[in-house]
Parts: sequence; structure tokens; C-alpha cells
Amino acid sequence: MINNKTILITGGSSGIGKAAVNLFLKNNNKVIVIDKNIPKKKPKNLFFYKLDLKKIKLIKKVVKNISIKFNKIDVLILNAGICPFEKFLKIDQKLFDLVVDVNQKSAFFLAQEVAKIMIKQRVQGKIIFTSSISSIFGGELQAHYCGTKGAINQIMKSICISLGKHNINVNAILPGTVITNINKKQLAKNNSLKNYFIKRTPLKRLITPEEIAKVMLFLASDLSSGINGETIMVDGGMAINFQ
Ligand SMILES: NC(=O)c1ccc[n+]([C@@H]2O[C@H](COP(=O)([O-])OP(=O)(O)OC[C@H]3O[C@@H](n4cnc5c(N)ncnc54)[C@H](O)[C@@H]3O)[C@@H](O)[C@H]2O)c1
Repeated sequence: MINNKTILITGGSSGIGKAAVNLFLKNNNKVIVIDKNIPKKKPKNLFFYKLDLKKIKLIKKVVKNISIKFNKIDVLILNAGICPFEKFLKIDQKLFDLVVDVNQKSAFFLAQEVAKIMIKQRVQGKIIFTSSISSIFGGELQAHYCGTKGAINQIMKSICISLGKHNINVNAILPGTVITNINKKQLAKNNSLKNYFIKRTPLKRLITPEEIAKVMLFLASDLSSGINGETIMVDGGMAINFQ
């Protein structure tokens, strides 16, 4: 499907990103992860750059270092994200800014820096954002988060228009509820919420990080060459069931 490519992914140390890293490695690609947490064990062809993405000013330098070391970047996956669940009336400016910086601002400026390199190297580039179904639907404890994911959809579309002439496809995946570190505690506290999500999903189960990773692989491959500027929901059908 895709092999011998260089994939740069943010948030590859956990959850959906980690599943994607494993799948890309399994398909014989070189994978570079930017994350604030880096594991001790590093398999062959996997490389880590430790960076807290809220430090937007450091992004340029890190991407420059990556491009010097790896020469080319074929695929960029903007996946790192946080969702510190909080009531609307309690979200202060500090928390709001943090969520915007990590989920939205860092993705924008990383895409910008990596796009410059893709254009220079004339690769058939692929840029994939991890958005969310929360970019379309609201959440009582996610007013800050939902805003960043809605913004990601629109940023993705505009970048897509800018980069099409350079042979770069730009798309976003909108996962439904997937149990990862981002929501594990929240769902453990509220078993009825988890069961509600399962009941709503026509497949009668929650989807897995590996199922999101497979769509990332598809969007990174030539099989999806005609898909551009698209938001692809991967939620097992949860969103279409209102009963
Ligand atoms: N899990 C879900 O239900 C779900 C649903 C929709 C969208 N998403 C999105 O999927 C993406 C991946 O989330 P996940 O569910 O795998 O969660 P996760 O918490 O398991 O993984 C998030 C990763 O991002 C990294 N990260 C967080 N803040 C960072 C920062 N400031 N700097 C650098 N790295 C940072 C973490 O270290 C971690 O490796 C996120 O963008 C999230 O919004 C998740």
C-alpha cells in the first residue's frame, strides 16, 4: 500500500498516533515522531524528536533539524492533541490558550514548515490532520476542544487549495470515540456514557486506534490520490444514529 516513505507524525507516543506508527513501520516506512513524551524502546526505523508543541516558536527549528537529517518528508500527520474536559463556565483563558496552541496553532505552523520542504523536494506529499467528530458536534465539557477541531477542518481545506498545485493532498480524519489516554479516565468515571456511545454505534462497539491508523495509511498511500480537502469520519457510524 505504501512503503519506503518517510512519515512525520505528531503525538506518536500514545493512542491513535502510536497505532499509526506501528502500522507505517510494519509497511516498511521510516517514521519520525514529534511528541512531548518519548518512550525508551525505539525500534529500527523509528525516530523521536521531543517537543512540547505548545512551544510554537521551536517548531521551525525542529523541522529544520528533521529535514537536514532525513532529507525528505513524504507524509505529515498532525495528530497530537489534548482534551482537558472542563465545564464551559470554568474554562479560563490559560486552559483555552493551551488547547488552541497544542491542537490548532502547532498543527498550522508545522504544516506550513513541512509544506515548504515538500514543495522544495517535489514529493507527492500527503498531509493528514487528526480532527474529530467534535469538529461537527458539540460536547458539554469540550467547548475549547471542539473549537480547535472545527478550525482544523477549515485550515485543512484552505491549505488543500494552496498546495494542490504542488501535488500535495491534504485531508482530515474525524475519529469518533476511541479509548485512549485522552479520555480513559473520563470514560472510566462514567461507564454509562461509554455504554451510551456503544449503544449508539451501529457496530455495537467502539472503534480502535488501529482502525483510525488504517485510514491514515490509506490517505498516505496512492490508493487515495483523488481524495483531497476531505473530512473523513471514522466512528463506526455513531454519528448517524440519533436513537
Ligand atoms: N480518542 C478519541 O476518542 C479521539 C476522538 C477524536 C479525535 N481524537 C484526536 O486524536 C488525536 C490523538 O489522540 P489520542 O486519542 O490518541 O490521545 P492520546 O492522549 O493517547 O495521544 C495524544 C498524543 O499527543 C501527545 N501530545 C499531547 N500534548 C502534546 C504536546 N503539548 N506536545 C507534544 N505532544 C503532545 C501525547 O504525548 C500523546 O502521545 C488527538 O488529536 C485527538 O484530539 C481522539
